[in-house]
Amino acid sequence: MKKAIFEKYGDLDVIQIIDAPMPVAAKNEVIVKVKSVGLNPKDILVRKGKFKRLSGKKFPQTIAYECSGIIEDPNGSHFQKGDKVFGMVNGMKGRCCAEYVRISLNEIAKAPSNLSYHESAGIPLAAQTALQAIRDLGKLQKGQSICINGASGGVGTLAIQIAKELGGQITTISSQKNTDFCRSLGANQAIAYDGTDILKSDQKFDVFFDVFGNYSFKKTAHLLESRGIYISTVPKMEIIKEQFFNLFRRKKAKLVVVKSNRKDLQWLAQGLEKGIIKPIVDKVFPMEAIQEAQKYIATKRAKGKVIIQMD
Ligand SMILES: NC(=O)c1ccc[n+]([C@@H]2O[C@H](COP(=O)([O-])OP(=O)(O)OC[C@H]3O[C@@H](n4cnc5c(N)ncnc54)[C@H](OP(=O)(O)O)[C@@H]3O)[C@@H](O)[C@H]2O)c1
Repeated sequence: MKKAIFEKYGDLDVIQIIDAPMPVAAKNEVIVKVKSVGLNPKDILVRKGKFKRLSGKKFPQTIAYECSGIIEDPNGSHFQKGDKVFGMVNGMKGRCCAEYVRISLNEIAKAPSNLSYHESAGIPLAAQTALQAIRDLGKLQKGQSICINGASGGVGTLAIQIAKELGGQITTISSQKNTDFCRSLGANQAIAYDGTDILKSDQKFDVFFDVFGNYSFKKTAHLLESRGIYISTVPKMEIIKEQFFNLFRRKKAKLVVVKSNRKDLQWLAQGLEKGIIKPIVDKVFPMEAIQEAQKYIATKRAKGKVIIQMD
């Protein structure tokens, strides 16, 4: 079977498509025939070796953490061969950009029945990140205000819709060209960073979700309500340190580290089936164009998700 790998950390040219043996399912794992793969900035960071302490020195490493497909081998689980599923693998070792993948039962769920494979492949990582940040870390309550920075990208587009479903009053930050797009997804107020400096605003938010990660707790503290929560997606030393000081102050700084789990995937599948959450697919590339697809993500201009089609 074909899979996209890299033999060493480096630039785009380390990526290769190779023939590899079929994966073997361990206990509590199934084999999925992959139809579509969701790409993320994480794929690029890992390939460049930015997390090498966690991703290790063993090669080859496979690209991608999320996919959709059909169950090939249920391995005695509650799934049937042919079930349509979507999921995300945890940890720093990607597996999903392959014709077949082994995946733990807690990392997949039945895919939303109304979505195409392309649409469901881009949900698990970005949407679980948004859900776990806003609901679990931000504890956003009905009627509370949330500011989402980086609102037009893979995580941001889903964050707007999830915050809406949780009853939030939503302000988004994107470039001017994407403000209408953010409004169309549910933003009550859409600010353009290339027109307005949010840091000079006197608005207050219960939650500031810094998806793009170019602000910080220190920079945004004056925009937070007295018990407001700042959440970042980017594991910089500053946010890691800030979390220690949460014990001594009312305003909190938090880092989201997404963890795939069946309950959250099922929550999202329901929202997608009801039409409360809509998938936003920006571009679809064939597997052979994986370098081009990663190059596009690296521009930081993706409007929604970037997908690889496997067959
Ligand atoms: N910690 C975790 O568990 C976790 C999980 C998922 C993602 N992440 C991280 O979250 C970040 C976002 O991921 P993603 O998948 O959403 O990325 P993405 O889809 O590549 O984000 C692209 C978006 O970034 C926006 N953007 C570019 N410059 C901006 C700026 N100066 N201010 C605000 N927005 C800007 C662009 O909007 P405009 O074109 O309108 O500027 C574009 O829509 C990445 O750093 C990723 O590694 C972390």
